[in-house]
Amino acid sequence: MSQYLIGQSPRLSGEVSISTSKNAVLPILAAALLTHEEIIIHQVPNLTDTCHMAEILKVCGAEVSFCQGDMRIRALSIGSPKENSLLRTMRASVLVLGPLAARTGECELSMPGGCAIGQRPIDLHLKGLQKLGAKVELDGGIARVSGGLKGANIYLDFPSVGATENLIMAAALAKGVTRIENAAKEPEITDLCHFLTAMGARIAGAGTNNIIIEGVEHLHGAEYTPIPDRIEAGTLACAAALTDGSVLLSGARSDHMRALLFKLSEAGVICQEDEKGLRLRGKARHPMEARTLSYPGFPTDMQAPLMVVATQTHGLSVFLETIFENRFMHVVELKRLGAQIRVEGQLALIHGGKMLTGASVTATDLRAAAALLLAGLVAQGETRVSDPDGHLVRGYESLEEKLRALGAHAQKLPDIQ
Ligand code: UD1
Repeated sequence: MSQYLIGQSPRLSGEVSISTSKNAVLPILAAALLTHEEIIIHQVPNLTDTCHMAEILKVCGAEVSFCQGDMRIRALSIGSPKENSLLRTMRASVLVLGPLAARTGECELSMPGGCAIGQRPIDLHLKGLQKLGAKVELDGGIARVSGGLKGANIYLDFPSVGATENLIMAAALAKGVTRIENAAKEPEITDLCHFLTAMGARIAGAGTNNIIIEGVEHLHGAEYTPIPDRIEAGTLACAAALTDGSVLLSGARSDHMRALLFKLSEAGVICQEDEKGLRLRGKARHPMEARTLSYPGFPTDMQAPLMVVATQTHGLSVFLETIFENRFMHVVELKRLGAQIRVEGQLALIHGGKMLTGASVTATDLRAAAALLLAGLVAQGETRVSDPDGHLVRGYESLEEKLRALGAHAQKLPDIQ
């Protein structure tokens, strides 16, 4: 079990560099299955999720090596992944469905289970593949997709990030033109489109909710560096805003973080973009309202970290979670530290301005884990964050080290067996 010890910290100051986006890298790695030529991805963050995705590519038959941030993938002869527990436990494993169906004409995959934050079905992925002409069968937790793919008009009932990515990848090798309407437009999807274009795909409308893909016969090898992680940058921005900090997040793309930066600015933090990245100064003092939405709305992945900031402002903040049905699990843990928060369904009312006091808390999901580390920075005394399922290292490259580099009292304790 991982454990972190966080002490009440001084104002954070200094510079820290932002890692490459986990959520951009995962679909890009899956897309490497679309060609038999070599793919090289630079600056791949060393996270459990990226290593697990590399394992999944290997069980699909690809050769994968990972050295000094460069991941090299060669998918010469591939097929449905052999049974592996990662397929059921790692949600993003579903992203190999589209590439495998497109390249080999068939794919059989254990359906990823739900997870703590919600049920997370894959009906939109499967419905879209059916529209592309695939036969889809569900049997005992296994999804079987077979048949050649043909371009089609697809309307997504909800702009799902994963379904949009899967269908773009499938359509890249389908015969004819595919139009995806009500597509998601997160920056990670635009990045995937840029990568696919570097492989020879023909895609128009990336970054809008109407994406058009003209299928090609073959895709070729490519080298690519994905975008910086807007959620890691946002988490560190919240840490600065909590501690009245003065921080430079080098490499951060503020154009991908508008919704969060509006919230922090309204709360009184000075957010400035320059050629090196994003500078933050000052403390969040005013309460805020945040409603999670698809991009460019406020990201659900930032809800827990921003809620910690809200606990330290003066007045009532209101948060509405509309993307996942069970994403307030951090609230119980924040209350252990003394936060005053009431949850009514998908609504959380945060009575800010209460001093937090260190205690032992447990991480229930990835972003909840990050939020608890942030809360520890302002809680009196020491906060011990237990992370029995290793959530934090799934998505953050040494968050505690980055916080420490900015002056925080944060350390990882030896793992408990
Ligand atoms: C991605 C991100 C995750 C982020 C989420 C929302 C990755 C690896 N993960 O997850 O960090 O929190 O976007 O921004 O990029 N849904 C269905 N049917 C489907 C697919 C989704 O009902 O077939 C629902 C989900 O249950 C959820 C909502 O749609 O309630 C959003 O899910 P989706 O956008 O697909 O998120 P992910 O791609 O799983």
